[in-house]
Amino acid sequence: FLPERLLAGGTGPLYVKLRRTLEDAVKVGTLKHGDALPPERDIAEYAAVSRVTVRKAIDDLVAEGVLVRRHGSGTFVAKPVSKVEQRLSQLTSFTEDMARRGMTARSEWLHKGVHTPSPDEMMILGLAAGTKVSRLSRLRIADDQPLAIEHASVSGEFLPDPSIVTSSLYAELEKRQVRPVRAVQRISATNMKEADAGLLGVPVGAAGLSIERISYLGSGRAVEFTRSLYRGDAYDFVAELTIGA
Ligand code: GLP
Repeated sequence: FLPERLLAGGTGPLYVKLRRTLEDAVKVGTLKHGDALPPERDIAEYAAVSRVTVRKAIDDLVAEGVLVRRHGSGTFVAKPVSKVEQRLSQLTSFTEDMARRGMTARSEWLHKGVHTPSPDEMMILGLAAGTKVSRLSRLRIADDQPLAIEHASVSGEFLPDPSIVTSSLYAELEKRQVRPVRAVQRISATNMKEADAGLLGVPVGAAGLSIERISYLGSGRAVEFTRSLYRGDAYDFVAELTIGA
């Protein structure tokens, strides 16, 4: 499904021509969103250029966000993102937020385990010495679009065995009657580092929203401390403001 004439005319270095040709192929739809690119070696052979030239053209397009590299599976044409609008005043879970929008949420697990809490976790979750914390790290995906990376720490008292969480953390906490009813959240701007950008399929340095949430039970006990990194191009946070007293 590569365009018939891989190298468009015009002047400039070969990799620039190849980059332009691939970019045009995406624009006109010869290469469709989500399509896998053939191996670099095949493109090099087809276009009669060196693999270094192909690599350079692809690197540029990955940096621009036109293509994405997925570790172990190849290079793909990036999908345009649909923005998610999220109200700031509601304490909802990722799974619920996506379901409300008619999207299907799933997670790729990056880590699940029981640990001795770090000093930060002890202070934030109010944990006593000798207690445990469950850590859950996930790549959060909606309709096949990776949206966020989340690292959650939950007091071991409320979730002794994180391996039982297979989809929604809040649904599991609800089952155990320890679903949080209040949360404090901090949102700050950040730029994506290489590892996170790779997981989220965005260029290194792309805009991200770093979100920290501490959530509580009605009794005031902290349940969860979660650090999330959301794609800046995929999320809008919306808040309702009222005039102060
Ligand atoms: C949001 C919050 C997290 C919370 C998660 C629970 O993404 N930022 O702090 O842990 O929802 O989502 P789920 O119940 O789908 O696991």
